This record gives sequence, structure tokens and C-alpha cells, in this order.
Amino acid sequence: MARERGQRPKAAGDKPTYRLTRPVFLIGFMGAGKSTVARRLARALKISSLDLDTYIERERGKKIKQIFADEGEAAFRRIEVDALAEVAAMASPMLVSCGGGIVTTDAARDALQTLGYTVFLEIGADEAASRISDRSSRPLFQDLDSARALCESRQPLYRAAAAGIIDTSGKNVYSISREVQRLLEREGVLCRA
Ligand code: S3P
Repeated sequence: MARERGQRPKAAGDKPTYRLTRPVFLIGFMGAGKSTVARRLARALKISSLDLDTYIERERGKKIKQIFADEGEAAFRRIEVDALAEVAAMASPMLVSCGGGIVTTDAARDALQTLGYTVFLEIGADEAASRISDRSSRPLFQDLDSARALCESRQPLYRAAAAGIIDTSGKNVYSISREVQRLLEREGVLCRA
């Protein structure tokens, strides 16, 4: 069949491209795999992704650890919710991996519920600890006992903020990413471009 002018013939191995209909936020405890899953899905689906901590570090010109040390956790939480609103307002919707403590303020939970579609990647503190290679950059993950307590206390907050939940325990990044993709497609948040 004659092909229309300017149309590229579809090669057998061509992967479909996708688009997000609204911003997607990945939340969950440190070590849940939010940033890795966001990067992998962005590459596989050819969508844009952004790590909120990295965005904040670039905007403020300081590492997260330094913001905690200089300005304290409450100030960091305000910076975090402002950054969330900024990235949600960007022209094309992105897949955003958020810091593990973003759910701790009412304002941020409200933003997660209203500005996009939020997915909770669920993980226990023990498995999270085994996945984290560098605890030194995470001021709130220093010893396992306090991380366990923190993780436990945040569970209801993650659940309150999320529209979808994926249990990541015992799963690798590929299967978690596939589950996130299926969930987003089912919810109509991820579509073929
Ligand atoms: C935090 C998690 C970190 C980072 C900061 C505080 C938390 O992000 O935002 O150290 O309170 O759980 P990751 O979840 O990406 O490690």
C-alpha cells in the first residue's frame, strides 16, 4: 500500500510512545524505589520524569542534607510543597518522584490529592534499608529502629494521599515499573501518544 508523504514506515521493533494526561507523583518511604522506577518508566515510555529532591537542590543550590542542617525540617517541608506545585504547573505533565516525607504536611497531602495522580510504592523499613546504599545523604534514615518507627507512623499518611497503591516488597524495579505502568493505563492517566 502506498504510504502517505512524510509518514515513516513502522519498523517491527518500534516501541509505542506514551503521554501522561496529568502529573503523576510517586510517593513512599526512602528506599521504596521511587526515583529508579520514575527514571526507568521515563526511558521505556518516552515520557518526562523529574526527581523532586534533585529539582529542589538545583533551585536552592544546596544539597537536601544542607537544607535540613541550615533551615530545619519544617522549612524543608514548605520548600517541598512549593516545588510540588511548581512542577505540577509545568506545561506538559511529568512523572515526579517525591521525597519520602512529603506526606507529612496537610498542605502537601492536599496537593498530592488534587494536582495529579499519586501512587504509593509500599515498602517496609527493613527492606528499604537493604535497598539504600547511601544513608549519609538522608538525614532521617540514620538507624534502623527509628526508621522502622518513622515508616510505620507514615503509613496512614501515604494511604491518605495516594489514589493507587503498589506493594513493592520482594519485587525488583522491572516488575514494580510494569505494575505502575498498568495502573496508570487502567486509570487513564497514561495513554498512547
Ligand atoms: C526524606 C526523604 C528523602 C529526602 C529527605 C527527607 C524523608 O527523599 O526528601 O532526606 O523525610 O523521608 P527519598 O525518599 O528520595 O530518600
